[in-house]
Amino acid sequence: MGFDVHHIREQFPILKTTMHGKPLVYLDNGATTLKPKAVVDAIDHYYEEKTSNVHRGAYQLSSDATDLYEGARVKVRDFINARTENEVVFTKGATQALNLVAQSWGIHNLKAGDEILCSELEHHSSFLPWQYVARVTGATLKFIPLTEEGRITVENTKSVLTENTKVIAINYVSNVMGYIAPIKEIAALAHSVGAILTVDAAQALPHMKVDVQDLDCDFLSFSAHKMCGPTGTGVLYGKLDLLNVMEPIEFGGEMIDLVGDVTSTWKDAPYRFEAGTPVIAGAIGLGAAIDFIETVGYENIVAQELKLRQHAIAGMKEIDGLTIFNEGAETGIISFNVDGVHPHDMASIYDAEGICVRAGHHCAQPLMKWLCQPATVRASFYFYNTMEDVEAFLAATRQGKEFFSDVFF
Ligand code: ALA
Repeated sequence: MGFDVHHIREQFPILKTTMHGKPLVYLDNGATTLKPKAVVDAIDHYYEEKTSNVHRGAYQLSSDATDLYEGARVKVRDFINARTENEVVFTKGATQALNLVAQSWGIHNLKAGDEILCSELEHHSSFLPWQYVARVTGATLKFIPLTEEGRITVENTKSVLTENTKVIAINYVSNVMGYIAPIKEIAALAHSVGAILTVDAAQALPHMKVDVQDLDCDFLSFSAHKMCGPTGTGVLYGKLDLLNVMEPIEFGGEMIDLVGDVTSTWKDAPYRFEAGTPVIAGAIGLGAAIDFIETVGYENIVAQELKLRQHAIAGMKEIDGLTIFNEGAETGIISFNVDGVHPHDMASIYDAEGICVRAGHHCAQPLMKWLCQPATVRASFYFYNTMEDVEAFLAATRQGKEFFSDVFF
């Protein structure tokens, strides 16, 4: 069967709800995506029928839970084409995964004189861990200059790459601009000077096939909740030879090999990085989300997002006094401002119409500075959004523009 958005929507119970008496129009998918029933059911199944801890119990129930949890790891392995499931570390989100790389690999491998390349396009979770590592180790943090449009390019990366570059830490898809960075080419650049590439792919996995072997990145982090999965769950992919020589940053149960009075040894990856009871239900939910995304198909996901985005941009261009900051983006994000209207005021207008958008700095203050804006409004589409959603969004945009012009001008 072809892509049928109405059939898809039936699988998301929240889309039957209303907000302020209006049908819910959810356009904040960059912040988190809605959850299909299949994901909620998979989590319920674990809690209702398989609750027990993993890797610990010498009884059938625990063995069943372990199979579900480790089965999810295998699903992630196949989904991103890792060489082995041991390259898949479950974390509590992309933020924790990105911090793990900086705290473990970064702190132990960098020194004064080394250089870290980042960009102003980064989410704080991609940038701040390395700002901290630079402060603690004495390494230098440098920005890859962005193009006029606000993109990271191979040429611009080359312009700041030196023999001292040890890490490149950038996003795959910007959470504000929706641009896709040339990760494969930048991985090759990083390796040409012996540096590693760590990728914030939180906004990539929801929209596009990611093949870590093809990209040849060293680390790649993402979150379940941005791709129809549960909150509180993420993944750090890392090349196994790197992971197995990295120190854990959290210590506790199940990550150890032998514990002595003075020193202890750790399990191999991924377990050395999963101290304590891991994100069992979350990983199972992520496995169900992967199944769901694969059933819908990335081709359909991208086509629907871009169709909606194109229609929205065309409509927005007919409204005077609107600045769109990322017209050429390849994913379903539109960042914009209405002249003379604070983004939060616009967000209130949308909210009154049952429309959810994000307004603010989007955890990307360096980018706001680059854009010379204190904040923007961000509408982010996903495959379950419809043309009617776009029409509602455009009508509310016109309404907000008119309302605030009447009030202030
Ligand atoms: N990182 C999420 C966003 O971009 C929360 O909105």
